[in-house]
Amino acid sequence: MLRAAEAAVSDPAPANCIADGEATAAVGMSVPGPGAERNRNRAVLVSRETQTRPQPEKRGQAEAIRLPVAANMAMVAAVSMARARRIVFANQKGGVGKTTTAVNLGAALAVAGKRVLLVDFDPQANSSTSLGCDGEQGGSYELITGVLPPEELIQHTAVPGYEVVPSSINLAGAAVELVNQSRREFYLSDALNDLDTAYDYLFIDCPPSLGLLTINGLTAASQVIIPLQCEYFALEGLSELLKTIRRVQGTLNPALTVGGILFTMFDVRTRLSQEVVREVTEFFRHQVFRTIIPRNVRLGEAPSYSQPIQLYDPKCIGARSYNALAREVAQHG
Ligand SMILES: Nc1ncnc2c1ncn2[C@@H]1O[C@H](COP(=O)(O)OP(=O)(O)O)[C@@H](O)[C@H]1O
Ligand SMILES: [Mg+2]
Repeated sequence: MLRAAEAAVSDPAPANCIADGEATAAVGMSVPGPGAERNRNRAVLVSRETQTRPQPEKRGQAEAIRLPVAANMAMVAAVSMARARRIVFANQKGGVGKTTTAVNLGAALAVAGKRVLLVDFDPQANSSTSLGCDGEQGGSYELITGVLPPEELIQHTAVPGYEVVPSSINLAGAAVELVNQSRREFYLSDALNDLDTAYDYLFIDCPPSLGLLTINGLTAASQVIIPLQCEYFALEGLSELLKTIRRVQGTLNPALTVGGILFTMFDVRTRLSQEVVREVTEFFRHQVFRTIIPRNVRLGEAPSYSQPIQLYDPKCIGARSYNALAREVAQHG
């Protein structure tokens, strides 16, 4: 089965999109209101006066200046249309590989030349620390509330082109503060609008819950990747998660698609792992990624060295698996 996992790693798959647009009535979700109202609410939400976000510089503008006008116009149009793919990693179960996947898939794409911003949207801040960043000076809470402009919140990682908006425990308060705000599900989505053209990928790492933070993540994204641990209770909660995704698709974010279910921590030595993969694949068919992430001790070690796997041990099976996943994701946007 290791061979099967390795074969999957080196064999990128066709698109596995669920794209289930079934409209389901939202339960307990507010509908979008006018932007002005939202801005007023943001001002109420944050203790300081909301600052205007300066627009990040659009890539390619400097080069465009030297081109003839027609080419210049075409380039400006192309640049302004090239919006980041927003991918959210969600599963209300903890310890299934959301953070490990967000961190290392992001690094693999950055190593391949893509510009990636990972927004740590979990107050536990595991993806921040995994990449040697911390949100003490501000992070995703300050991003969504507009307390600080994005350029003061974005931190570089050791991988060129790979940047992070870190998280901190401040974000735990956001879920409570947002509850009574209208458009409370759109805070992250609106904040990311300012960053869309500066990156190829915007990643959102969610906390292990289906609360307001995860709803903000699903509302902000164009795709959701669902890491599924190859363990006995793997499917526990999956139907609840899919129901939540359908509700978001039906009301808050019709453009949301399911990028795929990703098997993580596949253990070659256990029949259980193989059974989980077989049964879930039978049931979800084209909705699973062909790349399978094996259990790999190096993936578990890398965060304590504040490095993505591509720097910590680029040749290990964990690194190669996430590189294969990056190819699969990049090919089937
Ligand atoms: N493929 C893997 N092999 C070995 N350890 C892993 C793997 N994926 C994740 N881990 C470890 O399992 C734990 C939980 O993973 P994590 O990505 O933090 O899950 P989540 O974000 O869903 O809570 C972490 O200690 C992480 O280092
Ligand atoms: Mg996590």
